[in-house]
Parts: sequence; structure tokens; C-alpha cells
Amino acid sequence: MTNSTETVKIVEVALRDGLQNINQEVSNKIRLDWLHALEVAGLKSIELGSFVSPKKVPQMAGTYELFEQVKDLSDIDYIGLVPNLHGYNVSRACKCQSIAVFASASETFSEKNIGCSIENSFDRFKKFLFLAKEYKQRIRGYVSCAIECPYEGLIEPKKAAEIAKTLFELECDEISIADTLGRAAPRQIKELLDAVCDEVPVEKIALHCHDTYGLALANVMEALDYGVRVFDSATGGLGGCPYAPGAAGNLNTEDLVFALEAQGLDTGINLDQIVTLGRRICTQLNLPNRSRVAAVKIAQNSLSDFEERR
Ligand code: HMG
Ligand code: MG
Repeated sequence: MTNSTETVKIVEVALRDGLQNINQEVSNKIRLDWLHALEVAGLKSIELGSFVSPKKVPQMAGTYELFEQVKDLSDIDYIGLVPNLHGYNVSRACKCQSIAVFASASETFSEKNIGCSIENSFDRFKKFLFLAKEYKQRIRGYVSCAIECPYEGLIEPKKAAEIAKTLFELECDEISIADTLGRAAPRQIKELLDAVCDEVPVEKIALHCHDTYGLALANVMEALDYGVRVFDSATGGLGGCPYAPGAAGNLNTEDLVFALEAQGLDTGINLDQIVTLGRRICTQLNLPNRSRVAAVKIAQNSLSDFEERR
């Protein structure tokens, strides 16, 4: 299936998806500290936050300041979510070079999440995507509720593929199809990819798995067989959407790195460092650490410098 030199890209979403729904204050100082640790561990694509209404998602209110702090640092792809022209203008003002628009395969989710229909969401995106192209910004496009919607139930793969196709036609560089509720089984991922790959080249596709039922890694394996080589995950397994009740955190980066490397793929990420960071994040937020790799390493006492690194 794979060979040892093949690389896989991981898009780290703990600072955005991971924090957007959390019920506690996390200062930008702490976020920058985690960001630094992510970079040291080898992450190159990192979602930093969202340019959305602070009334709707208070945890993302400091995104502008966060981008201001990192703008001159390095070659790392720092991504900011942008829902409309207003958010786009803010993203440009803090020199965000990589934006992510987020569409949905469910009408009800679209209305609840961004306050407009699916069609109107594309009209909003068109108002700034041509500018993003002009300014050579990288563009990610999300398809939320590609499997199931918390309000409408199961979504037809064809519907999700239609949204992916529109994002592709809008010249998104990468299209991340999301199991927002974390309920998909590999069989459903196969059906979804059958439909999406008819419309979008597989090299453009990323998979964004929440891990509510523990099947996210199995779904990654299914997508790997399909040729998908970009996966979203969150260190510490953080994550959730304020408009997707019942969804748990994202697939944790620690276990994803372990699984991909075990499959002979190169992630470029240092497993011990990312496990150490995941442990630190969970401790700081007082959340359970669901990483199996972390549990093994803690049991083996192979992260003995944990206290020292905090
Ligand atoms: P709206 O209410 O439809 O917009 O919000 P509006 O144009 O009517 O404006 C209302 C107010 O918001 C105005 O301010 C605007 O200035 C302001 P007021 O006059 O009331 O003081 N406003 C903004 N402020 C800051 N940034 C902006 C902005 N736009 C308008 N960009 C909007 C539309 C999209 C802004 C709103 O619905 C919103 O912020 N929604 C939050 C969406 C969100 O962040 N969801 C979570 C991320 S998506 C996700 O998690 C799924 C994903 O992980 C994949 C998966 O798992 O499925 C990506
Ligand atoms: Mg998500």
C-alpha cells in the first residue's frame, strides 16, 4: 500500500478547533507557548484561529493578535478561518497568508454555524477569494457535515461531493472533508471518497476527523488506501464545534503520528515531543488525555523529562 519514503502532511488544529469550544480562558501567551512546542515537534501546517464574530466564538477573539505575533517568524503555514469579507479584511490586516473557508453539506448546519444558506456562503466566499488569489494566499476549503449533520442526520455522499466540487472550482488549494460529529465508520468514508474523488483530484483532499466513537484512525487508514495524504488532527485530542452538539474532540495528533509512521509513512514529526506537549496541554486544561500512545509512554516512564519541560 505505501512505501517508506512517502510523506504525509498533518494539519494541526488544536489551537483553532481545539480551543473554539472550550469553556475556560486560554491566554495568547499559553497559545504561543504551545505553538512553539508544535513547531519544535515538526508541525508545519498549523491553524492558529478564526476571524469570526467574538460574540459567536469568544475563544477566537485574540486571533488577530496571535497572527501579529507570528507573522515574521518562519516558513510555517499559519492558517486562519475566514467566513466572510469582514473576516478576510481582518486576516489581511494581520498578514495571515493562509486562509480557510468553511462550507457545509447541510443547510441547517450552515445557517446555525455561519448564519446563511450554503449558496449564500459561496457568494460570501467569492467576495474575497479572488483577492486571496491575487495576494498569493493559500486557500483551504472545509466541507463540514460531510457524513452526518447534528440537525439533519445522515448526509448523502453526493451532496458532500457537490460542495467539495464547488470549493475546487473556487480554486481552493486543499479541500478538507469533515466528519464533524466523529460518527463515521470506514465504510462511510469509502462511500464519501468514492463520490468526492469523482469531482476533486485526490491530491487536493484532506480528511478532518473528530473522534467521538474512536473510529477516526480506522477512517484515516481507509483514506490512506484511497491515496489521501493530508490529515487534520489536534494535539491532546482537543476539539469541537459550538454548533455541533455531541461532537467530541479531533483525532489526536499523537496517535495519528504513531499510526502513520507505523504504516511506513514519514510525518516529519517527533513523536515523543508531540506526546509530551499533548500531556502538558491536557494537564494545563485539566482534561483527560485520550492518547493511547501517551498512555503507553507514561506507563513505560519513557517521558521522564516531562516535569522539566513544562
Ligand atoms: P452574521 O451575524 O450572519 O453576520 O455572522 P452579520 O454580517 O449579520 O454581522 C453581525 C455582526 O457580526 C456585526 O456586528 C458584524 O460587524 C459582525 P454588530 O454590528 O452586531 O456589532 N461580524 C464579524 N465580526 C467579526 N468577524 C467577522 C464578522 N462578520 C460579521 N468575520 C458570522 C456571520 C460568520 C461572522 C458568524 O455567524 C460567526 O462568527 N460564526 C462563527 C462560525 C465559527 O467560527 N464556527 C466554528 C468553526 S467551523 C468548524 O468548527 C467546523 C470545522 O472544524 C470542520 C468540521 O469539523 O466540520 C472547520
Ligand atoms: Mg472540526
